[in-house]
Amino acid sequence: MKPKLHFTPERNWMNDPNGLIYFQGQYHIFYQHFPYTCEWGTMHWGHAVSKDLVHFEYLPIALYPSKDYDRNGCFSGSAIEYNHKMYLYYTSIKYAKENPNFVHIQYSDDDLISSQSLVMSEDGLTFDNKDHKYKVVDVITDPQIGDIRHARDPKVWLSDDGNLYMIIGSKVLGNHKYNGEVLFYKSSDGLNFEYQNKFMDETIGDMWECPDLFKLNNQYYLIFSPEHINQPPEPNSNAVIMPVDFDEDTCTLTKLDTYMYLDYGLDFYAPQTFVDEYGNRVMFGWLRMRIPAEGENWCGLFTYPRILSTKDNHIYQHVHPHIEQLFTKEVNTIDFNQPFKMHVTLKDNKTINLGGLKLYIQDNCLYANREEVSIQHDQVCNITHTPALDHFDLDIYYDQHIFEIYINNGYYVFSQIVYELKEEFECSATYTIKVESNGY
Ligand code: FRU
Repeated sequence: MKPKLHFTPERNWMNDPNGLIYFQGQYHIFYQHFPYTCEWGTMHWGHAVSKDLVHFEYLPIALYPSKDYDRNGCFSGSAIEYNHKMYLYYTSIKYAKENPNFVHIQYSDDDLISSQSLVMSEDGLTFDNKDHKYKVVDVITDPQIGDIRHARDPKVWLSDDGNLYMIIGSKVLGNHKYNGEVLFYKSSDGLNFEYQNKFMDETIGDMWECPDLFKLNNQYYLIFSPEHINQPPEPNSNAVIMPVDFDEDTCTLTKLDTYMYLDYGLDFYAPQTFVDEYGNRVMFGWLRMRIPAEGENWCGLFTYPRILSTKDNHIYQHVHPHIEQLFTKEVNTIDFNQPFKMHVTLKDNKTINLGGLKLYIQDNCLYANREEVSIQHDQVCNITHTPALDHFDLDIYYDQHIFEIYINNGYYVFSQIVYELKEEFECSATYTIKVESNGY
């Protein structure tokens, strides 16, 4: 029941992608991992490598709690190559109060104490959690700047000016509520980071997780995962992207336009980008599986690697060609045991039923109804829709438990986690289906 081409943990729990990097001739994927059960708990960094972003080899756990300041978890972070070494920056978590009955989960959100840390590795394969961990940003003490409990997910980059910059997500108390924000730090040696500046917005959720800032086509974009961006009832997951101006000298960030969701499904969260061997800006996102499928000993998956590009100031997403090029063999019918790519143009009253996942157009929006193939019965995330568009040309990528739906050549993406698909397929529009021809 595991996806064949989507990355999943070998076993047990996985959430965010961490430390994505092309380093010494191969891709490294790290991930938030609880290695004992299929639920979230004390965070470790799982690790896998790949030559092609298609086939992955699982490696031993890279980061694990080993210092007083990270005794309760190594939260999300990023990787850079610096001085020919791999530097992994992560959030070190200590609980103010431990739960004596189950030490792997905090009592409440108020019990986190967050600082930012580093592990250095010569080869990207061995990580010395005993002697090569360093705290690089201490716990925040000024509540005007950020939150001692919620300051996390360092994304670090090496600038042309030779300095290293770090962006982290946090929140700050406004008049009546918390507002999400990002904080900027700067370092000349990768070990000592100084606070520079911040950017806050009152309108997008109340805590920003997993920020990422990069340039595409000479334009800066900010990605982050805001908590509580939607009205209740939760649980929903959304990550956003927006064009921004960024002045490196002063670390001043200015919002240029409104945000869009990177994925209009309600499972997509905590994406991270990196640069592949060809110079493409590539993103993996976490697709939140809230519980494992019945009888399975793993939980959580990543999207396909998606290449980000821009046209007319809009972000487009495409499945990485290493994956895309696998789908060459045209077939007439769907087999839910095999990954496929389906192309279809959905109009007016045309509908698709993919094993119980129903797609249809209503008020010029694309709807997905997964009530019959979701384990979240009676919850909110079962019917979702995209913004309105004048046409819907769909590339639907299926791989056990996941449909990634790319709309109008990647203008929007709409992913859906599903469970226990039925043997049914109906499509009232004309379609083509392609599968891999060479086997996986
Ligand atoms: C996002 C997140 C991060 C945090 C990590 C903990 O899903 O909450 O902010 O570092 O997961 O696993």
